[in-house]
Amino acid sequence: MTCSILVGGAWGDEGKGKCITYLCDSDKPDIIARAGVGPNAGHSVEFNGEKYGLRLTPSGFVHTGAKLMIGAGVLVNPDVLFSEFENLKKYNVKERMCVDPRCAIIKEDHMNRDKSSQHLAKKIGSTGSGCGPANSDRVMRTIDLARDIPELEEYITDVSLACNEAIDNGEEVFIEGSQGFALSLYYGTYPFVTSKDTTASTFAADVGVGPTKIDEVINVFKAYISRVGEGPFPTEMTQKEAEEKGLEEYGVVTGRRRRIGYFDMELAKESCRINGATQIALTCVDRLYPDCARTQDFNDLSVDTKKFIEEIQSETGVPVTIISTGPDLKDTIDLRNELL
Ligand code: GTP
Ligand code: IMP
Ligand code: MG
Repeated sequence: MTCSILVGGAWGDEGKGKCITYLCDSDKPDIIARAGVGPNAGHSVEFNGEKYGLRLTPSGFVHTGAKLMIGAGVLVNPDVLFSEFENLKKYNVKERMCVDPRCAIIKEDHMNRDKSSQHLAKKIGSTGSGCGPANSDRVMRTIDLARDIPELEEYITDVSLACNEAIDNGEEVFIEGSQGFALSLYYGTYPFVTSKDTTASTFAADVGVGPTKIDEVINVFKAYISRVGEGPFPTEMTQKEAEEKGLEEYGVVTGRRRRIGYFDMELAKESCRINGATQIALTCVDRLYPDCARTQDFNDLSVDTKKFIEEIQSETGVPVTIISTGPDLKDTIDLRNELL
């Protein structure tokens, strides 16, 4: 049994939501643990004809046999968590949720400071979700932790202990990262980044699992790139070009229009290296190559698409094991049996 980490390869919104839902559905993890910054994330999940937007709940929630956990490194806004419990009632999310007592808590004041800060809101283009000010208070050691919040008492669990015991018992643990490599506070396009490192090593630390316990790191890329907020974007195309190619996108959390660009091989190589990627999942291939929409067999992909995938593989040295050709879970080419 394995412990896997899923990470975003670029500036977030790579379609991690769909990949996690697909991987958790087929791999049936016993624990799905959320890592990453906090409710600044927005993951989209489409399942059985319904669409869900998530900010804290692990995207693997549709696999109802799994325990859902939020690791100590993740910032929790209890209001966001409780509203997701309501929206996801039919999946028993509330009953399966475990929150580490050491998670730091986002309050109204953090959101107000985020939204009213000229530097964060205007210059960086933050999501306004309070994550930056909360992580700053955490470093100053003035923030409340989940163990101090009575409303969270029934969910409090030592997530690190639970994950490590599960791994030792031969169970499957799936760690969900959020954001993306190029938003990392250390390795991203500083200062136009988020308030924490967003690479695989930090995601392992977020849930309290040591590096020797990790078997797979799945790096997710979209076939093109998107970025919300300010900052450098070497392969950016004009909005007109994005429209002509049918690639415009809008953010899940903020509703902002995303900037769009071409796939960046140099970024992909660096992202695979620093994340220690063992697999690549490539999403939205159908949006770049419409003739591949809903294709489920690698042999049916067009010559250009195959060439693109092979180039990614040879440049990064990492096998492209999952190819997503549409929003539905069925629109997936899964080469893990052939390539691993
Ligand atoms: P993460 O932040 O990485 O989780 O990405 P996201 O889930 O936030 O991505 P986004 O909000 O941009 O949503 C992606 C949308 O595209 C969702 O509606 C998905 O269902 C859909 N989607 C995911 N993979 C594919 C794909 O391969 N092809 C197409 N056409 N749509 C996809
Ligand atoms: P913050 O994390 O809200 O402070 O925002 C800092 C930068 O990271 C801004 O450019 C945001 O748009 C970006 N960002 C943070 N989280 C995500 C995400 O999940 N997807 C895409 N961009 C994000
Ligand atoms: Mg997103």
